[in-house]
Amino acid sequence: MSEEKRGTFYPAYRVEPIDIEGSTSIVFSKKGEIGSLAKALRIFEEFEVNLIHIESRPSKQNPDFFDFFISCDNTKGDVKKAIESLTGDNCNVTVLTRSINPEITDKTVPWFPRKISELDRFANQILSYGSELDADHPGFTDPVYRERRKQFADIAYNYKHGQKIPRVEYTKAEVETWGTIFNKLTGLFPSHACREFNRVWPLLIDNCGYRPDNIPQLQDISDFLKDCTGFTLRPVAGLLSSRDFLAGLAFRVFHSTQYIRHSSKPMYTPEPDICHELIGHVPLFADPEFAQFSQEIGLASLGAPDDYVEKLATCYWFTVEFGLCRQNGELRAYGAGLISSFGELQYCLSDKPEVRPFEPEKTAEQKYPITEFQPVYFVANSFTESKEKMRDFADTIPRNFGVRYNAFTQNVEVLNNLNQIRTFASCLKNEMSRLEDALRRFNI
Ligand SMILES: [Fe+2]
Repeated sequence: MSEEKRGTFYPAYRVEPIDIEGSTSIVFSKKGEIGSLAKALRIFEEFEVNLIHIESRPSKQNPDFFDFFISCDNTKGDVKKAIESLTGDNCNVTVLTRSINPEITDKTVPWFPRKISELDRFANQILSYGSELDADHPGFTDPVYRERRKQFADIAYNYKHGQKIPRVEYTKAEVETWGTIFNKLTGLFPSHACREFNRVWPLLIDNCGYRPDNIPQLQDISDFLKDCTGFTLRPVAGLLSSRDFLAGLAFRVFHSTQYIRHSSKPMYTPEPDICHELIGHVPLFADPEFAQFSQEIGLASLGAPDDYVEKLATCYWFTVEFGLCRQNGELRAYGAGLISSFGELQYCLSDKPEVRPFEPEKTAEQKYPITEFQPVYFVANSFTESKEKMRDFADTIPRNFGVRYNAFTQNVEVLNNLNQIRTFASCLKNEMSRLEDALRRFNI
């Protein structure tokens, strides 16, 4: 398998769903003395709780302490009592687990964030932490790179909604890696990327410092996107579950990595990095129709059953990551995995792959490889049409409530009783009267 082919694996979320509902995650601190973790773990053994995941790192608050992150299997033993016992053992315990949404009486509906600040609740429920790299990762044997990855992970780990995203001073080697990719890709954009992408790209150069000798800062881009479509970025320390990642889109929030791939292989990354996010994803989030389309996928995912979240994640894969569109009779790329891959951007518009029209109910069933070029791409006629199709598909999701994003409060409103629907209707009535007034002024 060539490096270029492997470099097309760019999921911004974990492809296989993890059973978050079946686990409880906690963080606690213990003094860094011999046997302190073993003592804590014995508590879980005592209450017959299986541990799924354990991580540790020196505490930022107290240099004599260590922070431990633990995920417990809810299906075995007494998790609640184990946590109570751990708390009684003078550990500063924070429970990161979820709860059932109190306004939805159907207790089988998975929890989902209702306020934008609630995205903080799952920001750290990630699958790997900073310097943890697979053995075949280009940076696996590089201690400097691993330490650097940990610094980026710490930024995301400590980030809370409403804060400014910390600015990063990228090293000379990191900027060179960015510059190599930037220069190689930009020559392809006029002939291979969609119209919307090419409209926004110069604006990013003018407003956000997109240059070969500069890696733009997430906060500057987030501010720019906010002005364009209301989308914002928040840093993420690792891969989120599909459910969590899509929930962010419902609030027009895109979870973005901030680290860059290893300098030894600038045209390859086994995971999303800042080149993929900033070159591949960011431009289209500045387009109003694409932003709306992305949010539709996010809203459809809230409280949806696991199998439907997987279908939506597959639609996301074949659109936001690997989507093609037809413009003026020609195929063009708009998916971030294509835009940010020199090899696949050319391959996807050749006569080698199969292309099919984007039909969410069919696209959602399509299997796909994650380590090589896609054999099948799905083609959109327009983002407006794709958005409407996604909305129709969302109507087929078995949920006994509707959802609506209120941009004023940045809350997701659950529409499951008459009063809420009446309030919504009243808002629409106000907007309709404004529209009628505007039309009258144009004698339409
Ligand atoms: Fe991505």
